[in-house]
Amino acid sequence: MDLKLSGHSAVVMGGSSGLGAGIARSMAAEGVHVYLISRNTEKLQHTAAQIQAEGGKATWIAADLSSLAGVQTAITTLQEHCNVIDIIIGNGGGPPPGPATSFDAALWKQQTEAMLLPVMSMTDAFLPAMRKQKFGRIIMVSSTSVAEPIPGLVLSNALRSALANWGKTLSREVGRDGVTVNTLMPGRFDTDRVAQLNQTRAQKQGISVAELRQQKENEIPVGRYGSPEEFGHMATFLASPLAAYVTGALIPIDGGLLRSL
Ligand SMILES: NC(=O)c1ccc[n+]([C@@H]2O[C@H](COP(=O)([O-])OP(=O)(O)OC[C@H]3O[C@@H](n4cnc5c(N)ncnc54)[C@H](OP(=O)(O)O)[C@@H]3O)[C@@H](O)[C@H]2O)c1
Repeated sequence: MDLKLSGHSAVVMGGSSGLGAGIARSMAAEGVHVYLISRNTEKLQHTAAQIQAEGGKATWIAADLSSLAGVQTAITTLQEHCNVIDIIIGNGGGPPPGPATSFDAALWKQQTEAMLLPVMSMTDAFLPAMRKQKFGRIIMVSSTSVAEPIPGLVLSNALRSALANWGKTLSREVGRDGVTVNTLMPGRFDTDRVAQLNQTRAQKQGISVAELRQQKENEIPVGRYGSPEEFGHMATFLASPLAAYVTGALIPIDGGLLRSL
């Protein structure tokens, strides 16, 4: 199937590893010029080189997207590279775990800035050109916690729901301009972040990482973690002109993990 993506441009926030890198590699394989943004330059160089070795076009920009100043620097640099960005992938590191009973106002303020404002600011910068050209894609990497809040992850549960509803609202405002806005809900994927989380959990429970992984995989109907490539392919399809009729959607990619519809 020709996804008709060749020649398009995408900014992949948090594109140097994990799900972001999976998306970037998949899109680049379809002829999209991907602009990777994250903090660590070595990881950025590595992923950009991997994409280039696979025949794709990748440019990287080092920026810390957890503050508005960092996001603005990234936008300015991006605008020096290209006037139009066709696809925005809103992704990044996840928030720290914690229960709803321990309230820390400073942490909530900081995480609101880190989780909501980057994709909103990026959209604000590139949406007018998308609307003018009658094509644009905004895709958020979220979590199944939007549909089924996960115990002990109150920041993720609350802030990701806020972002998903921002996206839903936006999708209705820009639908007639050829711009779609969708939220992807990953379940459990093989990434650095999940490996780190599993190590911490295994230590807490006094079991091996392999045992913990087995427990987690047993909970997933397809019986395994997903790969970043599998995640990337779904994002790439949604980014394509072929997915023009999918907007305002919350899409689980979770091997059947969610119990509700
Ligand atoms: N993997 C899963 O199974 C899963 C499930 C549910 C939800 N999620 C969510 O999906 C998102 C991606 O997860 P992942 O597993 O792919 O994580 P990951 O492997 O840790 O990758 C995160 C990416 O974001 C970048 N990043 C982190 N903080 C940043 C910052 N302040 N500014 C710019 N870039 C930043 C990282 O690069 P640098 O560190 O170099 O900046 C990296 O490229 C997270 O929000 C996570 O909570 C993942």
